[in-house]
Amino acid sequence: MEQIFSLKDKVAIITGGNGGIGKEIARAFAGMGAHIVIAARNEQKTADAERELGEAFGIRTLGLKIDVGDEKQVSRMVDETIEKFKRVDILVNNAGINIRKMPQDYEMSEWDEIIRINLRGVFLCSQAVYPAMKKNGGGKIINIGSMASIFGHARMAPYGTSKGGVVQMTRSLAVAWAPDNIQVNVILPGWINTPLTMQARRDLPGLEHRVTARTPAGRWGEPQDLAGAAIFLAAPASDFVTGAALPVDGGFSIMHIEDVP
Ligand SMILES: NC(=O)c1ccc[n+]([C@@H]2O[C@H](COP(=O)([O-])OP(=O)(O)OC[C@H]3O[C@@H](n4cnc5c(N)ncnc54)[C@H](OP(=O)(O)O)[C@@H]3O)[C@@H](O)[C@H]2O)c1
Repeated sequence: MEQIFSLKDKVAIITGGNGGIGKEIARAFAGMGAHIVIAARNEQKTADAERELGEAFGIRTLGLKIDVGDEKQVSRMVDETIEKFKRVDILVNNAGINIRKMPQDYEMSEWDEIIRINLRGVFLCSQAVYPAMKKNGGGKIINIGSMASIFGHARMAPYGTSKGGVVQMTRSLAVAWAPDNIQVNVILPGWINTPLTMQARRDLPGLEHRVTARTPAGRWGEPQDLAGAAIFLAAPASDFVTGAALPVDGGFSIMHIEDVP
């Protein structure tokens, strides 16, 4: 029965896998026996993550300096992965950025950059791995959405647009590629303690407490909290699950106002 969660000798590309949530998903996959490709921009962070995972789990790794919004670089990401490992089994579209402002204050260059990385990047990477997955007889694509995929946030209009779009893209790709045995799902993390939200806690007084109060689990999430859902969606256990949006949020998205303490 444990085979249904095995990732032994699977090859997983994790965009933004050198820090935060992506690195913990990479660690979880490595712990289940997968070989890991980390695709992100900061070479030093990527080299450190590669070394850490390789030493801890004895798996093979590949670190690539990639901007997920750049078509040529994404194509190189897949080419180099296939050159080294001969296959791609799993793609985690985790790379993402945010800039918090009121809608009226955004420069269009900021809007474009958020959409380029968070939305275009997910499509480019998914499109790029498709031929290899089809040739293999199947694959798993895991996108990372957000609570901003389902709630409105005054200071996150472009981010929310991108993350809402990722949910709809997930459903479209899931339908299109089901005949190829490729399952496409999206994880919706709640408030997770990473460099991305550290800035929000500094910028927004009281956020730390408000998130804790609004979360039935009574705490912020840690990047490791995403590990179980990611393993499930990467493993044979989820072979009949596709197009799903799975909140991993300590109940943040289901609590009624009357129960907020
Ligand atoms: N933390 C939360 O509470 C939370 C909640 C919901 C959703 N999320 C989502 O979870 C994902 C990971 O976020 P995080 O909190 O772990 O943030 P993080 O610590 O800032 O990590 C973001 C990662 O994305 C990479 N990245 C950014 N732009 C990139 C690009 N153009 N090309 C390739 N890689 C890029 C970064 O690496 P480089 O800088 O080296 O490129 C970094 O590894 C994001 O999609 C985020 O929207 C986070």
